[in-house]
Amino acid sequence: MAINVIIKDPQWNEIWQFTAENGKNIAELAAMHGIDIPVSCGAGVCGVCLCKVEQWNDAVKADAFNSPLMPLKSDENWNPEEILTCIAGFNPEKFDDWQDHTVILQRTY
Ligand code: FES
Repeated sequence: MAINVIIKDPQWNEIWQFTAENGKNIAELAAMHGIDIPVSCGAGVCGVCLCKVEQWNDAVKADAFNSPLMPLKSDENWNPEEILTCIAGFNPEKFDDWQDHTVILQRTY
């Protein structure tokens, strides 16, 4: 099924929605859909692309494309509450799930 992504700005205003595709990092997906998430190093080092995960954090995989080189918040089940969108993606099994998922991310910059 689908993973629907809602992006909010730092003031919690919803600024965009898109349906995710598997195999791309979240910053790439956002850019493909016209959403500007700042990216600098592209490798999980600088933190410029940091986003907070507000909902459905078990569909988000913080280390999908690389291991973050800075501490990030997670919940008691180790689901991410913060991600670096240049290296984060979605759990592949959620694309094959029987239900749709809505992931809400908040841009920090
Ligand atoms: S752009 Fe540097 S951590 Fe993502």
